[in-house]
Amino acid sequence: MPIREIRILGDPVLRKRAEEVSSFDAELDRLVQDMFATMYHARGIGLAAPQVGVSLRVMVLDLGEADEEGLGPFALVNPKLVEASRKTARSAEGCLSIPGVEEVVERPESVVMEGFTPKGEPRIVQASGLMARALQHELDHLDGILFIDRLSPLKRQLLLKKWQRLQAEEVAS
Ligand code: NI
Repeated sequence: MPIREIRILGDPVLRKRAEEVSSFDAELDRLVQDMFATMYHARGIGLAAPQVGVSLRVMVLDLGEADEEGLGPFALVNPKLVEASRKTARSAEGCLSIPGVEEVVERPESVVMEGFTPKGEPRIVQASGLMARALQHELDHLDGILFIDRLSPLKRQLLLKKWQRLQAEEVAS
């Protein structure tokens, strides 16, 4: 299960709408395995295929101890949002593709998503709290949307400035 390189903000693959998966084959299986390995290596709780440079509608999630619903680890292929609560929640969010920064994002508090397992079996996921947030964050990735797009222009600008500073420091060190 090779670890793949995580694409960072600025990489155009993060801004493309990812394609539907059409064949549930060994290659998809490999992608999912590598995504799990990459996510665990980076200590993330979710990862979308575009983040490893593959423009396909695939996400993996594992909330570990925080998985209150006991759902994960799991992969969801061709996910669709079928229900979102009117009630929203605000909580800090970060992204492996924008390392080192986080900001509070408002999203529906609970969602229902349907999709497929990597074997092609239908799967419905019903979640609230952190899992609902992670599902929406990863689904956004598949549409080329990043969490910074859900901030006010001012907050977004401040966060990007901070991120650029961190990136420059990393290059310098
Ligand atoms: Ni992300």
